[in-house]
Amino acid sequence: MPSPVVLGGTSHPALAEAVARAVGVEPAARLIDRFPDGEHRVQLQTEVRDQDVFIVQSLRAPVGDHLLELLLLSDACRRAGAARITGVIPYLAYARQDRRDVTGVPLGARVVADVLDRALDRAVLVDLHSPPVEGCFSIPVEHVSAMSLLAEAVRDHAPNAVVVSPDLGAAKRAERFARSLGLPVAIVHKSRLTGTDVAASGVIGEVAGHAPILVDDIISTAGTVEAAVRVLLDAGATEEITVCAAHGLFVPPAVRRLQPLPIRRIIVTDSVPPPTGLPLPMETVSLAPLLAETVRRIHGS
Ligand code: R5P
Repeated sequence: MPSPVVLGGTSHPALAEAVARAVGVEPAARLIDRFPDGEHRVQLQTEVRDQDVFIVQSLRAPVGDHLLELLLLSDACRRAGAARITGVIPYLAYARQDRRDVTGVPLGARVVADVLDRALDRAVLVDLHSPPVEGCFSIPVEHVSAMSLLAEAVRDHAPNAVVVSPDLGAAKRAERFARSLGLPVAIVHKSRLTGTDVAASGVIGEVAGHAPILVDDIISTAGTVEAAVRVLLDAGATEEITVCAAHGLFVPPAVRRLQPLPIRRIIVTDSVPPPTGLPLPMETVSLAPLLAETVRRIHGS
């Protein structure tokens, strides 16, 4: 069987390269730049006719540009005769717009899924914000999770650790995480006030004297983590705090919020390029082996 073609966009070349190498191929050559008027210019420099193509593109900021680049890469592959095109999208932007909780807003997750449905034959997505997002797609979706990788990274946890979900929506994820480590679980009660501000009003579960391991899907502005940490400390948790998240966006004012908190470890995956030089106790777990395994499995199916 011929090898798969692994093609990276510009959103995360390092991860695309790591996935390609873990699959045992070179990343496919391509040209990506801009026309003078600002339009994206994409050209394949690899033969993809009759090939099984995997396009690795994280939908990080600037989200619209990276999404459009993915669509153009896919169209280039389609017109060059690719047999099948899979989008490997480690971070799916707009996934948090998965419900209309006020009038006059779009269902952003559905809008993005609709365009990806038209462009791709299949998608690989990592730790979606919520399971219903998968249902926005008509194409087959491989929804993989980095939670076991993150759990492995904290296996040397303090004996008095407790896994904490920073909101009710993430409770199931935290419960699975806690079960895999044989730890108890607690849940913070959070309400979102604005896109950057949240309020946490209490904790369900026993945290006094325990070392919290907060588990979330995304750290964006870190309002959620900050509010959860403050509530946990008020409830008597120890200052030995670990934060795990699948997607570390660290959008301002995340650093300003996180820096003063007594957090010992912040562990994220490289679903978006990990920020460097932040004054935070950052650790990164690579998704490359997990994504490469998924590529091999799909290619062999
Ligand atoms: C919310 O439901 C998500 O699971 C995350 O907790 C949230 O999106 C993180 O955003 P921020 O870091 O801006 O609070």
